[in-house]
Amino acid sequence: MTGKVYLIGAGPGDPELMTLRATRMLSEADVVVYDRLVSPEILAMSPDTARLIPVGKAPNCHTVPQDRINQILVDEARAGNVVARLKGGDPLIFGRGSEEAAYLARHDIGVTYCPGITAAQGVASATGVPLTHRGLATGVQYVTGHRQADKALDLDWARLANPDTTLVVYMGVANIGEISTGLMAHGLGGDTPVMAIARATTPQERRLVSRLDRIERDTHEAGLHAPVLFVIGKVVSLYTDFALSRASIDLFQREVIAAHA
Ligand SMILES: C[S@@+](CC[C@H](N)C(=O)[O-])C[C@H]1O[C@@H](n2cnc3c(N)ncnc32)[C@H](O)[C@@H]1O
Repeated sequence: MTGKVYLIGAGPGDPELMTLRATRMLSEADVVVYDRLVSPEILAMSPDTARLIPVGKAPNCHTVPQDRINQILVDEARAGNVVARLKGGDPLIFGRGSEEAAYLARHDIGVTYCPGITAAQGVASATGVPLTHRGLATGVQYVTGHRQADKALDLDWARLANPDTTLVVYMGVANIGEISTGLMAHGLGGDTPVMAIARATTPQERRLVSRLDRIERDTHEAGLHAPVLFVIGKVVSLYTDFALSRASIDLFQREVIAAHA
């Protein structure tokens, strides 16, 4: 009997941000195939009997190529296993979940998705900075700051440099200089507030509040390393406004490493 694959979003790191469905699916797993961003606390929720297969990709260091990951999923399901494919955040936001699902479908393997809390939502709830806010941001745009080796960033700068929306940049830490320069060249003010959060919702979370014309320098000086999410736009100004209520939002001891905004 062929098994099946659950494509599960594990959320941004805090195990309490897993959905009930994700927890139930994980509890059924014979095999857990997991990414680098899945926290150890979440992995520990796997059944004792499950085999754990790491396939994490670090930036510029693809430990397991995507083709190989696809094949592992097919082989494990064909062996009759219930496979929990655990991904950080949501599997359908910069997560290649749909690529894996398409490959599995071509091999007649059943796939069920489970949504996860994406990093942007985790950051918003951890910091109290909303992604939209009446009078500050009428919408939000999610983009990747990752680029193929030796290629320029393929971003629509004119559309992104909109002062009335919030811009969330995933995978942008290596290219934040190019991103901030591109946005300013297309009209976004250098004084636009920017927040960078590393390892949001985990005990290792670090926060930096800066502005567009200083974010590259501040990010490097603070030594922030991936995973880092950038939130760019007027909503970040609410971070300081919410300072007094922050204690009630925080789950862990966190560090504010700079506050220039
Ligand atoms: C390959 S993408 C995966 C995104 C994921 N599918 C999601 O929905 O959040 C990896 C990027 O997500 C962001 N990210 C994921 N988890 C994060 C966290 N806990 N804190 C900050 N950024 C995070 C970072 O920008 C990281 O480089």
